[in-house]
Amino acid sequence: MTATQVEFSPAAAPLAEKLLDQANEIIARYPEGRSRSALLPLLHLVQTVEGHVSPNGVAFCAEILGINKAQVGAVATFYTMYKRRPTGEYLVSVCTNTLCNTLGGQEVYDQLSEVLGVGHDETTADGRITLEHAECLAACDYAPVVTVNYDFALDEATPEAAVGLVEKLRDGRPYTPARGARICSLKEMQIQLAGFADPREGAVGDGRAGAPTLRGVTLAQQHGIAVPDFNPDTPITKTKPSPREENKGKVATVVEKATGAVKAAAAKVEEKVEARRTAKTSEKAGEPTKPGDAKDPEVRTAEQRNPDASSPDKTGDAKVTPPAPSNPAEAAGASANEPAGDGKPAGDTARGSEEAK
Ligand code: FES
Repeated sequence: MTATQVEFSPAAAPLAEKLLDQANEIIARYPEGRSRSALLPLLHLVQTVEGHVSPNGVAFCAEILGINKAQVGAVATFYTMYKRRPTGEYLVSVCTNTLCNTLGGQEVYDQLSEVLGVGHDETTADGRITLEHAECLAACDYAPVVTVNYDFALDEATPEAAVGLVEKLRDGRPYTPARGARICSLKEMQIQLAGFADPREGAVGDGRAGAPTLRGVTLAQQHGIAVPDFNPDTPITKTKPSPREENKGKVATVVEKATGAVKAAAAKVEEKVEARRTAKTSEKAGEPTKPGDAKDPEVRTAEQRNPDASSPDKTGDAKVTPPAPSNPAEAAGASANEPAGDGKPAGDTARGSEEAK
């Protein structure tokens, strides 16, 4: 069944009526059989109408993609850009992550919270502003930063400048952001996020990197710091093998070497075993076999090292000689913890004291 043939439930039908063409366009961007990958832009598309992902929005996405509502809900509740309740016309995000916080991001947030009378993820009574704490907004060089509907609105923000910004937004007065595009409404922004061109004039804006972004380069130039042999005009070739491909050769060489080493070691062992077998045969030719003589020399050596191994102490009275400590700390620990000698942990003398009673 194609998306256009879906029979929508009463919950999904109103959104289908408005969004079906765009939804089909989004789904068509994905290969056959992979339509569920369209869920992320579809959720943004739903937000162009409702401003958030409502139960009806969840039903619409599930039905058009042929997946269940739990699957849609799992995605919609995972990402903070999908709002779960009605959101204001302007989403004001204040970065309170490490760098912004150090430079006053929390003060900016607190001041806005007080002036607007709302907390995190709450909307003013007039429905104009939703305030939120944000994690790093990828503009640390301009910290602290404030975005409005995901566009950079205030660089190196101060509480006063932030209040001026929200007052203008509430009053409907024009606000020119420090950089980037002209501020639009949150629903208009969702059109771009769903992957459609925003036809408004100045909807998309960009500019040259600003002074704070270029600060490192500027300092390097001022101090004559350069990477030796670096040529900024080096073309970026697309034919360079990927690291995985480059590593393929290296891995093959390592494997080849390791295989050779293992084979050589195995051949040596085989040679040794054969030599021993020949020696034993010539030594014992014509002699009666004595018990133990047929043992491998390595087994014999092991037995000499640990003569009690074949006759374990059954009385529990045998004295075990602990290994010599290898450093002063170990020696101190050993002297403070006499081995119990009865299978109990070192230092456990309970049995001895019980017996003494
Ligand atoms: S910490 Fe605020 S933009 Fe990175």
